Amino acid sequence: MNDDVPLLDIRGLTMRFPVKKNMFGRVTRYARAVENVDLAIARGETLGLVGESGCGKTTLGRCIVRTHRPVGGSIFYRNDDGSAADLAALTTKQLRPYQREVRLIFQDPFSSLNPRMTLLQIVGEPLHTQGIARGSELEDRVAEMLRRVGLRPEYMRRYPHAFSGGERQRVNIARALIPQPRLVVADEPVSALDVSVRAQILNLLLELQEELDLTYLFISHDLSVVESICHRVAVMYFGSIVETAATSDLYTQPQHPYTEALLSAVPQPDPRLRGSGRIRLPDDLPDPTDPPAGCSFHTRCPYARPDTCAVGDPPGLHAAAQDHEAACHFSSQLHLTGVASGPEGLAPQKDLAQQYE
Ligand SMILES: Nc1ncnc2c1ncn2[C@@H]1O[C@H](COP(=O)(O)OP(=O)(O)OP(=O)(O)O)[C@@H](O)[C@H]1O
Ligand code: SF4
Ligand SMILES: [Mg+2]
Repeated sequence: MNDDVPLLDIRGLTMRFPVKKNMFGRVTRYARAVENVDLAIARGETLGLVGESGCGKTTLGRCIVRTHRPVGGSIFYRNDDGSAADLAALTTKQLRPYQREVRLIFQDPFSSLNPRMTLLQIVGEPLHTQGIARGSELEDRVAEMLRRVGLRPEYMRRYPHAFSGGERQRVNIARALIPQPRLVVADEPVSALDVSVRAQILNLLLELQEELDLTYLFISHDLSVVESICHRVAVMYFGSIVETAATSDLYTQPQHPYTEALLSAVPQPDPRLRGSGRIRLPDDLPDPTDPPAGCSFHTRCPYARPDTCAVGDPPGLHAAAQDHEAACHFSSQLHLTGVASGPEGLAPQKDLAQQYE
């Protein structure tokens, strides 16, 4: 089997939501949420997906787990036997086997657990609905999974209200992992938690990745967390991926002005290593029902040259897992400021616990 072939290879993925209906109930306008995204995720890696609120991170994640059906593009998922399936094109019935292989961990451990279901029912549900296990076998597998995520199996008949936020997120993780997936989309898995338990949950995700040979798409606002746990990072702006690179390359040598602005907003512990200060971007994201021509960042970019940037599309990214690429006309000419990596940088690479506790 060729290990250069990514586990997930997304091509031209596009998702738009209907926003306006005319008097006959027909949709007349669509809002852009994900636009022409190419992105590859290698087996066993953690790919971070970052970008400001509303840029399309969750929508992209939901297209991958197919709770949204994209309006265009492909999501090639590599099967164990080396063949590929386009998840974007599968019917609901054809999707069934992939629903155990590609799983989502939700952000909010409070609203995502049904208060009227016990832990046994919640964690066992994917096995039950997929017809994988029933009865005592199902109970045994739930007990084993609870143990793996650090919860006591004796609690399986209790309801979610009896547990703290961190424990509920462990339940969420158990529910996502019990069908033995290969790819996990973790959508802001620690951002709703107290700072004191974030490191524990992140460490749990890292341990489980190693133990169960998992591949993660890790969606986050928190660039310090992303630097700590992701091998590579994709930066999203207004529905498109504008830069991808190995984490340390992206943080120390950003090639897209939007990445530079995101990094400039992160507090840096050592004042000597701070760049020239925070770059404050004007205005909000453009109107998703009326996207700007040319580079979609030109309405806010400090380096924009209207004659070029407002006219022509910047170069597209090629999605190859190992490349550092930026969708900017001038990326090779601009000398952008990043942040220091490693111990003096945003976050220590190893000692997550110290960072948060
Ligand atoms: N179900 C929906 N119907 C209509 N528009 C939607 C829907 N879901 C998302 N959108 C729109 O799509 C765009 C992208 O939203 P999305 O939730 O994917 O962003 P995000 O990057 O995950 O933001 P956040 O960081 O706040 O979670 C936004 O403009 C949002 O309003
Ligand atoms: S193409 Fe132009 S507007 Fe877009 S990021 Fe590059 S410099 Fe800025
Ligand atoms: Mg989101």
